[in-house]
Amino acid sequence: MADSITSKRDRIFSFRMPAVTMGTGARSELSGLVQPHGKNALIVTDPGIGSQDSFREIVADLEKSGCKTAIFGDVVPDPPLEVVEKCAAQAREVQADIVIGIGGGSALDVAKVAAIVAQHGYELPTLFGTDEVPQRGLPTVLLPTTAGTGSEVTPIAVLSDEEHQLKRGIVSDHLLADHALVDPELCLTLPPGPTAYTGMDTLTHGIEAYTNKHAVPLIDSYALEVVRLVGKSLETAVKEPSNMAARYDMSLASLLGGLCLKSVNTAAVHALAYPLGGRFHVPHGVANSLLLPHVMRFNAPVSSGRYSVVAECLGSDDAVAAVQKISAAVGTDKRMRDFGVEEQHLTEMATSAMEVQRLLVNNPREVTEADALAIYEAAW
Ligand SMILES: [Fe+2]
Repeated sequence: MADSITSKRDRIFSFRMPAVTMGTGARSELSGLVQPHGKNALIVTDPGIGSQDSFREIVADLEKSGCKTAIFGDVVPDPPLEVVEKCAAQAREVQADIVIGIGGGSALDVAKVAAIVAQHGYELPTLFGTDEVPQRGLPTVLLPTTAGTGSEVTPIAVLSDEEHQLKRGIVSDHLLADHALVDPELCLTLPPGPTAYTGMDTLTHGIEAYTNKHAVPLIDSYALEVVRLVGKSLETAVKEPSNMAARYDMSLASLLGGLCLKSVNTAAVHALAYPLGGRFHVPHGVANSLLLPHVMRFNAPVSSGRYSVVAECLGSDDAVAAVQKISAAVGTDKRMRDFGVEEQHLTEMATSAMEVQRLLVNNPREVTEADALAIYEAAW
């Protein structure tokens, strides 16, 4: 089969991103960014980040600038709807003028959605899906402390619908932060495990955007740089956590990977990862790293040309082998069975993955339910 993936020059797409401030030490710019929006800030974070010195310094700096701060520190991974509701309630209670998210993808996603709910009081379930958010909420500034989801620049938030054991996405330009403030120093305390997994998520964003049925030239350029940066620096960031150059590269890769989402977006790896997260609570980056080489192998017959470019960015002549090499080097070369998934679950997972058509339609090769099952079996 020939390569079916080319960039669509006749595809008209629009592209929006938040204002970005990036640089080593850039967190010192926060109070200046907050000032025009008011004097009452709600800071959204998780307990791990909330107890760190760098976090306390950020809060102290804001207070010093005359900004009153309240902290919502109860974000958990795969945040359920109640977390967003509680966060929005606190924002209303303290009459926040601005919401500041500091943390990994979950904290930033909660901040984005809570800013909207706090302002307008929408019922969360009405916001799920694409373009269901009627209008923007409170202003937001997002500071990532991981290098993976790119949530600081995406118009996407993923929450857990616990009742249905599903992860569900809210996709709307109204979720875009007013400001992404990217300071790679905030990733210095991220342990090797999460550094590896979130980095593999970033790599997946790059690969799935570049080998995407709806690829466009502008996003291609970001996607390939994501692949190149991850190939260059993920292993170093994992093995030498205080290596600032590697942390910078990974923060940049994460941001660029975030820019690949929405207008092109991801494909079968992310679609098949959904049931792993929703049902088995496997962290997003872990789920992607388990599936990535297997989906790539499935796609290879129809995307050989694009995969050879990916391979080249990774300094190899075989994209799948290069990805597996990175995964082994950073310790993410695991199997689904290592995360509590039993073989008997695979059939229902394949059925459930088929529901993620919004991503499956992007895959270079059509994925049937039987294909999804075969991929899960290979990854199990
Ligand atoms: Fe992702």
